[in-house]
Amino acid sequence: MDGALRVNYEDTLLGGFRSKPYDLVVLSAGLEANRDADVVGNLLGLSKRPDGFFEIAHPKMRPVEAHIDGVFIAGCASGPKEIQVSIAQGEAAASKAMGLLVRGELALDPVVAVVDPEKCIGCKLCIDTCPGKAISVNGTALVDEAACKGCGTCAAACPVDAIDMTLFSDEQILSQIRAATAVKGQYPFIVGFLCNWCSYAGADLAGTSRIQYPTNMRAIRVMCAGRVDPAFVLEALKGGADGVLISGCRLGECHYSKGNYQAYQRVQVLKGVLEKVGINPGRVKIIWCAASEGEILAKEVRKFVSELKEMGPVGTELAPPGTPEPSGGGY
Ligand code: FES
Repeated sequence: MDGALRVNYEDTLLGGFRSKPYDLVVLSAGLEANRDADVVGNLLGLSKRPDGFFEIAHPKMRPVEAHIDGVFIAGCASGPKEIQVSIAQGEAAASKAMGLLVRGELALDPVVAVVDPEKCIGCKLCIDTCPGKAISVNGTALVDEAACKGCGTCAAACPVDAIDMTLFSDEQILSQIRAATAVKGQYPFIVGFLCNWCSYAGADLAGTSRIQYPTNMRAIRVMCAGRVDPAFVLEALKGGADGVLISGCRLGECHYSKGNYQAYQRVQVLKGVLEKVGINPGRVKIIWCAASEGEILAKEVRKFVSELKEMGPVGTELAPPGTPEPSGGGY
């Protein structure tokens, strides 16, 4: 309009969008991920972000750690950043590495995946779902217990239920679902699966902060939203739950990298199946809640309760004639 170069930008410090005229605009050179990084990345089994930089375990809690234990990432390997931040990250990574070395021995996580070789069909689906690259297949799947972080995403994805978890086994979780649905509380009754790291902590925070929300939900703790097997959801609905809420870390913040994305995809598939068998797919809901967001969990539970009230009790939907019974197992 006035012939000047205008820059439209978001001022993240003061908040809000700005537009200003300038005589000269100089763009700084963009930074791309090093193409050779693939070599070291493949060697160590590191995950990459869509922009080609290495993915870190968690942006807030583990900013210099990879998803693989004992691998640390500092500076621009995980994305463009200022030199001061790169130096601080280098020092943090070095001190974390020293911390491991001086200890001399490692304590393994008690929650790990176990494979039943009798059931395993060697489909390799678990290799793709495992964020820690802890599974290999040689005829049947093999789990590297030192690398397994226990998220349980592989167990939920296994199409023949050949993988189970220690401490968070299918039977233990199914028993909790059956116990909850056996003594159903108020209508509508909700079974909630909350991931250990964010949503369960968020629910705790809601409690300690005395945030008021309906008591219609029974919370079941799982290590990651990715652990929620469709069979768990079906078991809850079969037991009479009017709705199932799955809550995981915010997208991009799953403590096992992509468990929440996998949970989301699984829920979408499951909703399609529910619709086919005549169950309102709205009875299954997935949300994201960080450990500091007790208010969000409370708000979502309130909202879900009123949505379910509108739907009516489970089982009141009419299944189209000839539709098959829902069956358990991963997909
Ligand atoms: Fe929270 Fe994976 S750990 S969703």
